[in-house]
Amino acid sequence: MVSALWTAKGGAGATVTAACLALVLARDNPEGSLVIDLGGDLPAVFGLPDSDRHGVTDWLAVDSAPPADALARLEIPVATGLSLVARGTAASWPRHQVDLLTALLAEESRAVVIDVGLIGPEYDESPDSDLRLRLAGSAEESLLVTRPCYLALRRALRTRLRASGLIVIAEKGRALDEVDVEDVLDAQVRARIDADPAVARAVDAGLLSSRLPRSIHRALREVHR
Ligand SMILES: Nc1ncnc2c1ncn2[C@@H]1O[C@H](COP(=O)(O)OP(=O)(O)OP(=O)(O)O)[C@@H](O)[C@H]1O
Ligand SMILES: [Mg+2]
Repeated sequence: MVSALWTAKGGAGATVTAACLALVLARDNPEGSLVIDLGGDLPAVFGLPDSDRHGVTDWLAVDSAPPADALARLEIPVATGLSLVARGTAASWPRHQVDLLTALLAEESRAVVIDVGLIGPEYDESPDSDLRLRLAGSAEESLLVTRPCYLALRRALRTRLRASGLIVIAEKGRALDEVDVEDVLDAQVRARIDADPAVARAVDAGLLSSRLPRSIHRALREVHR
């Protein structure tokens, strides 16, 4: 199962939610999980040292059929059962390599989580937005991470991509709730995650993988049910 998490407005919590979902799936799935970083923030969220490590964009940029284990060689162990493929450093790649990647991920026996990042309302021709749109569009689960916020919902409606499900990061005091979000976006809320200072603190301390807050674990276990 490939789950692509994306946002229509920056800073909603897609990267942290993707990291948490990958950790939950690594624990709950006997095969473990693999998380792919398109945004570039996941090593930091997992408390790994920042470096110009090779990653998925470098794999894409090799314009030939790569050896079967080439993507596996880019994997970085993060926690028991969880590996990360970083974003990498390449800036452009042939379009057909993206087809190869989506086919490879669809055959993966582990649960795959992709931190797609931002899908803008305007589709542009840059390789980066093409990659984001195609990976989010081809995943079995295309999950929009959003706050219950009027501006975020407006932007989500203007993207060309339709989500198969929603993950709502709920904050106290908002006028809109999950039912409003479902009505506007015409998709089901799969998980409601309370904005919890414990989550932000664990991220800032680089301790998310060893101290995943229980509230988020419970909420994310429901995503694929
Ligand atoms: N469930 C949560 N509870 C509390 N804080 C959270 C939660 N999820 C994310 N955050 C915080 O919100 C901020 C933005 O999170 P994150 O980087 O995951 O968003 P994003 O959608 O990936 O942003 P970007 O557009 O930069 O990629 C961070 O400071 C993070 O610690
Ligand atoms: Mg992000």
